[in-house]
Amino acid sequence: MNLILLGPPGAGKGTQAASLIEKYSIPQISTGDILRKAVKEKTSLGIKAKSYMNSGNLVPDDVVVGIIKDRLAEADCSKGFILDGFPRTIVQAEKLDEMLTAEDKKIDKVLNVAVEDEVLIKRLTGRRICKDCGIGFHVIFAPPTNEGICDKCSGELFQRDDDEEDTIISRLGVYKNQTSPLIDFYTRKGILASIQGNNAVDKIFSDMCEAIEGSMVDNS
Ligand code: AP5
Repeated sequence: MNLILLGPPGAGKGTQAASLIEKYSIPQISTGDILRKAVKEKTSLGIKAKSYMNSGNLVPDDVVVGIIKDRLAEADCSKGFILDGFPRTIVQAEKLDEMLTAEDKKIDKVLNVAVEDEVLIKRLTGRRICKDCGIGFHVIFAPPTNEGICDKCSGELFQRDDDEEDTIISRLGVYKNQTSPLIDFYTRKGILASIQGNNAVDKIFSDMCEAIEGSMVDNS
């Protein structure tokens, strides 16, 4: 099962990917996570990506397409994968099609999670992430038991550099201009499922599973 999670910043793609990994036993490939790791480790990729990310802009297509090409070639992707945050432009989507076609593969379902801007801003300004295990929390919607401390590993929680309100507004603009055209792109291919992202986390997850399992039946 090859899936894409599409949706604006803060739609809950990472939150849902964590449950989808468990249920379908396929890896999550998050270009944002890969880029943040490179920034933290100050690799040449990280040095190149940092200014784009901190300003809320997209890292150039050729850079992220290269990352995905290498990642999809790894053994754990042979039974399927969940793309989270890729593709983000029409060029990226076309390159992905080329890559998959060359391997006789295809995307089975694109789960498009829709949420209004005001809700997204609240979610992103309140998001906190564990420095050690990477689990996400929210100061209001999913607070840790002890403020600033991860429930799972007791690591320190931090706020992402691009979760400042000004940068969030830029990211939402970039999403509308450069990423939202993918909704039409995948609707035309007949593989897009619309998911109401304002619901509770569990309800969104069950809607996603229903959409995925519907497409599994369609393919049989
Ligand atoms: P990336 O890391 O991909 O960020 P994003 O798409 O902006 O998405 P987020 O991680 O911010 O949000 P999410 O949808 O995963 O929400 P989450 O589940 O955490 O990209 C970062 C940057 O990297 C980009 O700006 C760009 O510079 C670069 N980049 C990455 N990919 C690229 C690409 N392909 N091309 C070019 N550049 C690229 O949830 C958010 C919060 O809400 C959490 O606190 C959570 O607890 C809470 N929450 C989630 N669901 C709910 C719910 N149902 N109800 C209440 N609260 C909820």
